[in-house]
Amino acid sequence: MSDSLNLSVRPRRLRLQPALRQMLSRVTLRRSDIIVPVFVREGRNIRQEVSSMPGVFQMSSDVAIGYLAKLAEAGFKAYLVFGVIDRAQKDALGSVALDENNIVCRLLRAAGSAKLPLLGITDLCFCEYTDHGHCGPLTADRSSVKNDETVGRLVQQAVNHARAGAAVIAPSGMMDGTVGGLRQGLDAANFSDVAILSYSVKYASAFYGPFRDAADSAPAFGDRRSYQMDPTRGLDEAILEASLDVQQGADMIMVKPAGPYLDVIFALRREFHVPLVAYQVSGEYSMLEAAIRNGWLDRDRAILESLTSIKRAGADLIISYYADILTRLLDR
Ligand code: PBG
Repeated sequence: MSDSLNLSVRPRRLRLQPALRQMLSRVTLRRSDIIVPVFVREGRNIRQEVSSMPGVFQMSSDVAIGYLAKLAEAGFKAYLVFGVIDRAQKDALGSVALDENNIVCRLLRAAGSAKLPLLGITDLCFCEYTDHGHCGPLTADRSSVKNDETVGRLVQQAVNHARAGAAVIAPSGMMDGTVGGLRQGLDAANFSDVAILSYSVKYASAFYGPFRDAADSAPAFGDRRSYQMDPTRGLDEAILEASLDVQQGADMIMVKPAGPYLDVIFALRREFHVPLVAYQVSGEYSMLEAAIRNGWLDRDRAILESLTSIKRAGADLIISYYADILTRLLDR
């Protein structure tokens, strides 16, 4: 090799010995970093696999409580609940979302009565409850979602969730002014201790496809591009969205999806001083699972590497469908 190359610095020296590699490992993953999504539906003793997300199940609340109890024992700290309802119960306004006895509120109360040592986080949106599958009431020409009316209804939904025992509310609809509206509404209802985790930076992503099977929430027409963000916009919009949410009182902010948006996670990490959550979404899960089940990827290593990358980019917490496998792979 040429003399002009600097060979006195040899990074491999620190890679040669397993002990040094271990000592120098910096990015750690613990079970308590993971928020566990659950899809809950009416009925008893139901555990139905989602076809596009093998290994992920819709559960009735009795089954979900048993599942969550096990995870709590294993050291997980929080779950994120999505309600799934029958098509026949859906209407243009998503009225079931505001019913104090809907499946989400009942699961939260059941978790409370069972004294589950887990924080309940609720996904706050209307797309699982509207017959058109959009995230709130539509404008007259049905081309978009009415912003301020949706926010008003989100506040009612959030107060119901808080009453039922939610510790954290996670608005996911990308309506302007949501966080400020929620903070005021929750405070006025005496829930100033209930935290807000905002889906601040949520892209209109193809990677939500399998979730829409799991939650039966695909839009019946059109798409979500008039409210979710355009993947081809620059980082400025991400920073604007997050800063509005922080100004309006978001306790934690989120980037979603995670893996394809590590640059966004990295940028927000440097800019903001609130905890940052990343959502490894359904499509990321299904892609990995498809390759793993085909024998094309090593299961344990691929899963750990995907999650480690999200933490290395700067996420504090990760929402991931891999809780079961992580019980085997991770320390508390
Ligand atoms: C509800 C919501 C969605 C996801 C989380 N909350 C779907 C969407 O915006 O269409 C997606 C989660 C995933 O894909 O795992 N608005």
